[in-house]
Amino acid sequence: MKILITGGTGLIGRALCKLLAEHQITVLSRQPETVTEKCGAGVAAFASLDEWQPDMVFDVVINLAGEPIADKGWSAKRRQALLDSRVALTWMLVGKINAASVKPAVFLSGSAIGYYGNQQDKLLNESSAAGQDFAARLCLDWEQAALQVQGVRVCLLRTGLVLSSEGGILAKMRLPLGMGVRFGSGKQYMSWIHIKDYTQIVLRLIFDEQLGGPVNMTAPNPVSNEDFTRTLVEVQHGLLSFTSPAFLLKLMLGERASLLLEGQRVLPEKVLATGYTFRYPELAAALSSLLAG
Ligand SMILES: NC(=O)c1ccc[n+]([C@@H]2O[C@H](COP(=O)([O-])OP(=O)(O)OC[C@H]3O[C@@H](n4cnc5c(N)ncnc54)[C@H](OP(=O)(O)O)[C@@H]3O)[C@@H](O)[C@H]2O)c1
Repeated sequence: MKILITGGTGLIGRALCKLLAEHQITVLSRQPETVTEKCGAGVAAFASLDEWQPDMVFDVVINLAGEPIADKGWSAKRRQALLDSRVALTWMLVGKINAASVKPAVFLSGSAIGYYGNQQDKLLNESSAAGQDFAARLCLDWEQAALQVQGVRVCLLRTGLVLSSEGGILAKMRLPLGMGVRFGSGKQYMSWIHIKDYTQIVLRLIFDEQLGGPVNMTAPNPVSNEDFTRTLVEVQHGLLSFTSPAFLLKLMLGERASLLLEGQRVLPEKVLATGYTFRYPELAAALSSLLAG
C-alpha cells in the first residue's frame, strides 16, 4: 500500500510509521530532512503538498498535522496558527485528494475529544453534540474540512489523551520521585488511550470498509483526573500527590487551563461495536506497561 501521512513525524505518526513499515510511506513535514531519522529509513518525504501530482496514487491518507495545542498561550495569533495548521492544511489536502486521478480508498483525518467541549461526567459517544469553546470549534472546523472530500471513505479520529513512553501527556504529567499533581477538583474526566491500541485501531479503520464518520479513539474506561493521578503515583511507587488549585492554573495558563480543569467522559462505541479487543482497557496496566523500568 502507498500511504501519505501529514504530521507523520509526531508522536502518533512515528508509531504509525513503525507499525506500517512494510508499506510505502510518504510523510509531509516542514523539516523533510528529518523524516528518515524520525520515521524510518524507507520513509519518503514531501516538503509541501504541491509535490503531490494528480497522477500519484496514495491508497491511504492519514492527516495528523497540527501545532501543539497545549504548549503556548492562546493569543489571537496562536489561535490562528492552531487553526491554519489543521483546518487550512486539511482543505489543501482535500483539494489534492479530490483532484487525484486515482482516489485513496480511505482518508483518516485528525480530530480530538475536545470536540465535545466540557460535559462534566456525562457519557459521550460519537453521536453526542459538539461543545462551544475554542477547542471544540477547532475540532468541528477540522472535521468539516475533512468531510469535503468526494467519493472517499472518511474516518474522523476523535483522539483522546494518547499514552506513550515517547512523549505526549505522560511526559508532561510525570514528576520526579513519582509524585502526582491533581488539577483543581480532580473530578474532570480524562479519556485516555494506549498508543498500541491507537495504532491497532487505525489499522482496523484502514481495512474495515464498513467504518466511517467520527470514531472515538479512546479506551473504554475513562477515569477522573483524581483517579488518573492516584494510579500514576501508585504505578511508579511514588509517595505523594498534591493539588494545583484551579485559580492558580487559570492565572498561569488563562483559557488554556480548560484543557486541564475540564474533561470529557468518552466511550469508544464504534470501535467496541467492531469487536475490537483493547490490549489496555484499564489505566493501571496501560501505565505499568509504559513506565516499567
Ligand atoms: N497526542 C495526543 O494525546 C492527542 C490528543 C488529541 C488530539 N491529538 C491530535 O492528533 C494529531 C497528532 O498528534 P501528535 O501527538 O502525534 O502530535 P505532535 O506530536 O505534536 O505532532 C504533530 C505534527 O504536526 C506537524 N506540525 C506541527 N505544527 C505544524 C504546522 N504549523 N504546520 C504543519 N504541520 C505542523 C509536525 O510535523 P513537522 O514538524 O514534521 O512538520 C508534528 O510532527 C495532532 O493534530 C493533535 O492535535 C493528539
